[in-house]
Formats: sequence, C-alpha cells, structure tokens
Amino acid sequence: MRFALIAAAAVLCTGPAWAKAKPQPPAPQPVPWMNVALSPDDRAALLVQQMTEDEKLTLVRGYFGVPAGPFAAGMPKGAIGSAGFVPGIPRLGVPALQESDASLGIANPFNVRPGDVATALPSSLATAASFDPTVAYAGGAMIGQEAWRKGFNVLLAGGVDLARDPRNGRNFEYAGEDPLLAGTIAGEAIRGIQDQHVISTAKHFALNDQETGRGILNAAIDEAGMRESDLLAFEVAIGKGHPGSVMCSYNRLNGVYACGNAHLLNDVLKTDWHYPGFVMSDWGAVHDVSYAANGLDQESGSQLDSPRAMAALTGADPASLPAGGPPFAEPLKAAVDAGTIPPARLTDMAERILRSMFAAGLFDSPPAKSDIDYKADAAVARTAEEEGIVLLKNAGNLLPLTAAAKHIAVIGGHADAGVLSGGGSSQVIPAGGPFIQVPMGGEGMMAAFHNAIFDPSSPLKAIRAAAPGAEVRYDDGRYLSTATATAKWADVVIVFATQWLTEGEDAPDLTLPDMQDVLIAAIAKANPHTVVVLETGNPVTMPWLDNVGAVLEAWYPGSGGGEAIAGVLFGATDPSGHLPLTFPQSIDQNPRPKMPGANLPPMTPFDVDYSEGADVGYRWFAKEDIAPLFPFGFGLSYTSFDYANLTVTGGQTLTVGFDVTNTGGAAGAAVPQVYLTARGGQELERLIGFARVTLKPGETQHVSVTADPRLLADFDTAAHGWRIAPGAYDVAVSRSAATPVLTGSATLDGALLQP
Ligand code: BGC
Repeated sequence: MRFALIAAAAVLCTGPAWAKAKPQPPAPQPVPWMNVALSPDDRAALLVQQMTEDEKLTLVRGYFGVPAGPFAAGMPKGAIGSAGFVPGIPRLGVPALQESDASLGIANPFNVRPGDVATALPSSLATAASFDPTVAYAGGAMIGQEAWRKGFNVLLAGGVDLARDPRNGRNFEYAGEDPLLAGTIAGEAIRGIQDQHVISTAKHFALNDQETGRGILNAAIDEAGMRESDLLAFEVAIGKGHPGSVMCSYNRLNGVYACGNAHLLNDVLKTDWHYPGFVMSDWGAVHDVSYAANGLDQESGSQLDSPRAMAALTGADPASLPAGGPPFAEPLKAAVDAGTIPPARLTDMAERILRSMFAAGLFDSPPAKSDIDYKADAAVARTAEEEGIVLLKNAGNLLPLTAAAKHIAVIGGHADAGVLSGGGSSQVIPAGGPFIQVPMGGEGMMAAFHNAIFDPSSPLKAIRAAAPGAEVRYDDGRYLSTATATAKWADVVIVFATQWLTEGEDAPDLTLPDMQDVLIAAIAKANPHTVVVLETGNPVTMPWLDNVGAVLEAWYPGSGGGEAIAGVLFGATDPSGHLPLTFPQSIDQNPRPKMPGANLPPMTPFDVDYSEGADVGYRWFAKEDIAPLFPFGFGLSYTSFDYANLTVTGGQTLTVGFDVTNTGGAAGAAVPQVYLTARGGQELERLIGFARVTLKPGETQHVSVTADPRLLADFDTAAHGWRIAPGAYDVAVSRSAATPVLTGSATLDGALLQP
C-alpha cells in the first residue's frame, strides 16, 4: 500500500512513471552453481562453463602473500597476508583463496599480520605417537577452525612424507615411518580441517624425504617400492581425508621434477587413484609451463618461480640464471592459445580447483573473522600432547613422581619459559602470553626463520603447581658446576633436553645439539634419580641411557605442552604414546649413514638412492635383523596390559580379534599393534592394524582389526595392481614392532586388486 501511494504521488508530480523511470538493475538471479543440492562436480562444471580463458588463468596462478625478501614490493591486492593467495573472480562470485601454513597451527610468517598469534599443536610426530585417529581429527578441526576465523579458506596442512631418514629436518611435520599410521593420522587431521570449510592439502607429494638439496635432489626408487611406502601413505591419507588439494614437492622423482611428473600426477594420482581435487605446487617448485600438461593444476607463490627471484633463496648468482617470469603467467596463456597445452586442459585445471572449493564449502560457508577461544584450543593441543608423550624408560618405577619427592631440580631446556617448537613455514607464533625466541644464527632470507620459539607453557611452572609440597629449584644448565650441585641437592632431577630443527635443513647426526649429552651424563652421575624429558624433532641417540632413571620423549609439545609433561611426570596422565618411528642406536644402522647431498655446492644435482624400497624404518631393521635403541611402536605405561584370545580369519583379507585387559593398578590406554610377520613362510614385517584402547584397572575389551588388503599385497608393476598371493599369512599382536605377544595364522585366497 505504501509503495502504491508513493507511486501515485510520483505520477501527480512528474507525469507518467513509464515516461521517466530509470531502468532498474535486474534482480540478481540465483546462479545455478549455487544450488547446494547439486554435487560439487556438477556445480564446478556449471561454473567453469561461464569462465573466460583469462578467468581460468587467474585461478591457476597463486602468489606469495608476504612482502618479504625479494618480494618486499608489496602484497598482492586482496591478500590478508600469509604464504599464499589466489585472486577471486568477483564477476562470478568466486572467492579468493587465502592460503595459510600449516599442519601445526596457523602460521604468521615474518609477522605479516602484526601480532597475530595462534594455538600450536604438538608436532605431528606427537600426534602420530598417540596412535589415535580421533586426536588427529580434533587437532585438525581446531586449527581448521582457527584458520576460518582468521579469514583463511585453505590450510597448507597435511604432511604425509614418510620418515625415511631420522635426520630429516621436517619429520616433525610428518606422521612417522609407517604408511598405515602416517596415512591414517594425516588423513584424519585433513578431515578435521576440511569439516571447518577450509581446504586442506596432502603434502609434499612425493618422496620429499630429506631437506638437504630438496630443490635439486633426485629420489630414485622403484615403482613397487614407492607404491608400497610413501605413495601408499598418501593414498591412505587421501582416501580418509579427501583433501581438496595435493601439494607436489620440490624434489625430482626418478629423474623428473615432482610438479612436472606426469607419472606421479597423471598416472598415479589422477588415473589410478581417481583423485578429483587439484594439484598445487610447492612454493618455487615450478620450472616449466609443460607442468600444466603433466598434471599440475595450480602454480603457488608464482613470484618464486622466476629463476632470478629464486636465486635470493638458493644462493645462486642471479646473473647466471635466465630472466623470465612464472610459467603459469604469460607462458601458460601463450601455450593454451597456441594449443600446445589444450584449452580443455586449462578448463580441467580450473574445474578441479572449483570442485574442491565447492566440496569443502568455500562458496557456501565463507570464513568469518571472529574471536578465537585460545584457552579452549590450548586444551585440544594439550590432549594431543598427553596422548603422544612416550615413556621410554622407567627404572624402578621412578615415575610417576610422588609427594615423597621434597626436593625437585628442574634443569635446562628453557623449561622456565616454555616448550620448544620447530622452525620453517609451519612455525606458529604462539598464543598464551609472551614467549621467548632464541636466535639460532644463520644468514640469508631463511635467517629470519632461524629462531627457536618456545611456546609459553612452562614445564617449570606446571611442575611447581603439581608438587605444592616440594621445593622446586631451577638451573638453566649452562654451567656443569651449578647444574650438578642442584642435582645433588635434589631427591629427583628432571632435565629438559632440546633439539631444534627447521624446514630447509637436516640434522647432521643423531646427537643432541649443544653438547647436552655431556650435561645429562654429568647430572646422572650426580644423581641417578634423573628423569630426562626430550623435546626433539627427531630420534636422538642417548649415550647416558643406562645411567638415568627415566626418559620421556615429549617431541615439540605445543600450547599446553608444559602442563601435559607435568601431568605425565606426576601420574595425572598415564603415558600412552608409542614411537611412530624407530630410534636407531646410531645412524650407521640406517640405509644411508652418510647424508646424501651433504656439503655439495648449492644446486648441484645428486641422487638419493632409496634402494631399500618399501623397507622403511622398522621394516628395514627387521630385514637386516638389527636391534634399534627403541623400536617403532614402543612405549611404556604406569599400568600393564595383557592380550589373549586371538582369532585370525582369512579369505579375502585378514581379520584379527583379541582381548586386551588392564592388569595393573591405574587407568590407561593400550596401543595393541597387529603386524604381518610372514607370508607363505617368508618372514617380513608390516603394520596391518592398530587400536587405542582406554581401560580402567581390571577392565577387558575385545578388539577386532581388519587389514586394508593393500597392506597384505605387493604392488605388481607388470600386472599394474596389488597382488595378494594365495597362502598362509602369519600375524602377531604386539606391544611394538619388536615385541610380539600373540601369534596366529590364516589363509588368504589370493587376488589382483586395482591399483
Ligand atoms: C614449504 C611448504 C609450505 C610453503 C608455503 C614451502 O617452502 O615446503 O610446506 O606450505 O612453503 O609456505
């Protein structure tokens, strides 16, 4: 009625409305690709049809979103500041991709978002040590939610590479040495992230298993070997998590750079595994426009693919390198226009990106900047750490500490300030208050990453809170004289040892740095009631092991890590972590005692010969019949568990059933592991299943594990499939890779399964 009156007045004053009315913009029509009833495939197909060539080209080229180093000139327009940015297409309502690192929380490289902090998860090795898919999912969901609330819709998380080398500087971002465990943990973390409407990646595809020379090395491995190991880990992770993206790695694989490797990307990922998402490159990993034809869908951080800009990172002389811009800029447009890259391929690239955006909910549930409850999120990180701490030794039940300990010495490791985190692109600037940063030295652009950051969760404070009746003295461990004097004074000593690692470099050996072995040995001599708490990114050797009372591997403990450590030390938490990778006695036990590529001039090509194939970690130790310092899967508890009533059924796969009973006096979680130990009488060792069972004292639970048939098979390259040989399969239910408890056997029919 009101509208009618206004219209009538208008006619009276100014003449007929139709004579003068301004043309009204048409009411926005609902666009068909926003129909949520359609599948992501259908929505992407509808949308890509509307896109011009230039719009498709916009979608396949990302930018480094940090104005730093050679890219100081500024941030791409619209970027909120993070590792990556892909402009959107406003005409069609396609949102920009705001991409942040990484698996351990929301990074803030170079403080590009001034003062922005985030919750730090413990290292992925800690999460893997929990053997708990639910904890991996919860961690993923927590960081995915923080990402979304900070305005990000892509999280460059999901590290899956296998820990083939215990010196690899990025093992802490990965989930260990076993394909089933690593794939499960990474896959669940990815699923948790994507449930927050944030695309996750699985990275770095593939065989980026050392940092030394990562941009130039050639990983040499036979087809079956890689399908049964690193690629299987990715296959499992992708199958569980359905990441919108897979990030191809820096290295070459069997002679061809991973991001331009048609066999890896087209044959394996997209054809054999039917992967519907998109492949994004690692930052600076695209060397040629032909990569588009070979399976790469999106170039990330494209400024870094200009050879001369890269020189700033590699140390090469820029004048010696060709000028030229990113391959997915003008060269891709020219190639598509010339037909050397078919236009249909460009459409496919764009469509895959859109499909993942629809599937994860980027159109329907865009990020909303909003407050984050860092306290609640620290509790998620703390739970992951509590489940991931591994008790390696506990002579005479020194742990858990009781009220009888009246004088407690805490020594070293900056335990007064917080807990160590790892460096590189996954570095989180921690929430929770002021933190310390210890410069580790170094030169060049990466020097800015060369700071050991301690998450502000002080173990010393948490120990004091847990032992109100005790006097707790702290010594920083710099001088042997004061440290040993404090140790002598104490009833019990807790010494913290740290190993800082970072992306871009490997540890040269397995020793604790800064001669902390000397400190620990001196303390143990002063007081045998010494507990060593390791905050390491990798396995380390322990020359003092026989002389200390207890050892805890706490990894990089994350926000809430100090409290988690204290909880285990004082028995509020039963230790239940189990090693996700083998701790060797010395690096000489590993397939490559000498670090491949070490000490070569920058950008000198070299091979890493992975002739051990799929015999990674514990499988290698089993095959070579050598005893490590601590085996894969190992971890002690304050209670005890018995296993009984084994059943093994065969047929098409193996199903293994058994009972677990808590026979001790405390509640705790058992981590029974099921290994395949022989096929047709031929010995081998493969984890084919695991469980995590929380039990009260006296409680029993039945566990049943059905093996993924790929774990029972060999990859038959000639027949192009997983071959399960018919015959007898022996299994063991074990406490670790080296501690079988129950053994049994069943017969399998035999089959050839699709790759
Ligand atoms: C790392 C990736 C990371 C990317 C963006 C690269 O150097 O290898 O893991 O996501 O940088 O920061």
